[in-house]
Amino acid sequence: ADEPLILGIETSCDETGVGIVRGHTLLADALASSVDEHARFGGVVPEVASRAHLEAIVPTMDRALRAAGVTLADIDAIAVTSGPGLAGALLVGVAAAKGYALAAEKPVYGVNHLAAHVAVDTLEHGPLPAPAIAMLVSGGHSSLLRVDDLARGVTPLGATIDDAAGEAFDKVARLLGLPFPGGPYIDREARAGDPASIAFPRGLTAAKDLVAHRYDFSFSGLKTAVARWVEGRRRAGEPVPVADVAAAFQEAVCDVLTGKALAACREHGIDTLVIGGGVAANSRLRAMAGQRAQRYGIRVRTPRPGLCTDNGAMVAALGAHLVAAGVRPSRLDLPADSALPL
Ligand code: KG4
Ligand code: ZN
Repeated sequence: ADEPLILGIETSCDETGVGIVRGHTLLADALASSVDEHARFGGVVPEVASRAHLEAIVPTMDRALRAAGVTLADIDAIAVTSGPGLAGALLVGVAAAKGYALAAEKPVYGVNHLAAHVAVDTLEHGPLPAPAIAMLVSGGHSSLLRVDDLARGVTPLGATIDDAAGEAFDKVARLLGLPFPGGPYIDREARAGDPASIAFPRGLTAAKDLVAHRYDFSFSGLKTAVARWVEGRRRAGEPVPVADVAAAFQEAVCDVLTGKALAACREHGIDTLVIGGGVAANSRLRAMAGQRAQRYGIRVRTPRPGLCTDNGAMVAALGAHLVAAGVRPSRLDLPADSALPL
């Protein structure tokens, strides 16, 4: 009970999250999502997300404090996602954090959303061995990172050059007539399908691509290949085998993600791989990464699915790490930065 009590606020996309942690212990994780409001648009609409955050931030804050059985006065520091993300959405969280910090005279820490996705794993599996490789795969980002220290030493190794992995899941789901966000539906459909039934392309894995884009991803070619294949079936008046398409598509994504993440581990001589972000909830990705990693003596750490998607706990977890590492708080003119680098 000596460790500081940290509150984290997340509003970078469509989830309003407030988490409270003490050290590596999660005390509360309150969430309000605007995902249903975006469903009919097939993607997150920034203006809709900002408005939803405005409406949800105070009630979500209250819920988190109540769930943890504490008051704002008990909190030692407030961490908030200051980027990257949707500008207007980020602004709501940053403004709220500053307001609460000013009112209650608490230090505020602006944190990077990607680093927070990695930090959340410490709530489940304890301190992260250093160095580690982290792979973040969500609707907004697909990145490989080298993590020497969560506070100051997170280095990007590669990222998607077009669609994010989750975006590809969502677009292919739409093509197959599945609801938004499509990742979980593809995951479910794929269980009844044959992953080897259709050979879909593996982006940026050809020898020439491995030189300039060793740790980068590309999913738009795969998405187009799936679209062509499905159109071909429809034009021929044949039924689309949804489960097989889902399984073959998912296999291609997981194959590339796992392959590049493990290559990064091996080439850097690192034996810990952390996978986070919404797509880390994918059952095939979790199984494939675990199986392949075993061959190289690499340990895969993946937070439970509920902590993989955006939430306030991940921000609080990173905040706790920064406070413990003696990092100085942000200034109160901390800006929201939609393209915040690591
Ligand atoms: O991390 P997240 O909640 O929000 C972003 O920061 O984007 O990730 C959302 C993404 C969506 O694209 C969703 O389809 C995908 O994660 N996702 C999945 C699964 N669950 C969520 N993708 C594949 N398989 C899943 N089981
Ligand atoms: Zn995220």
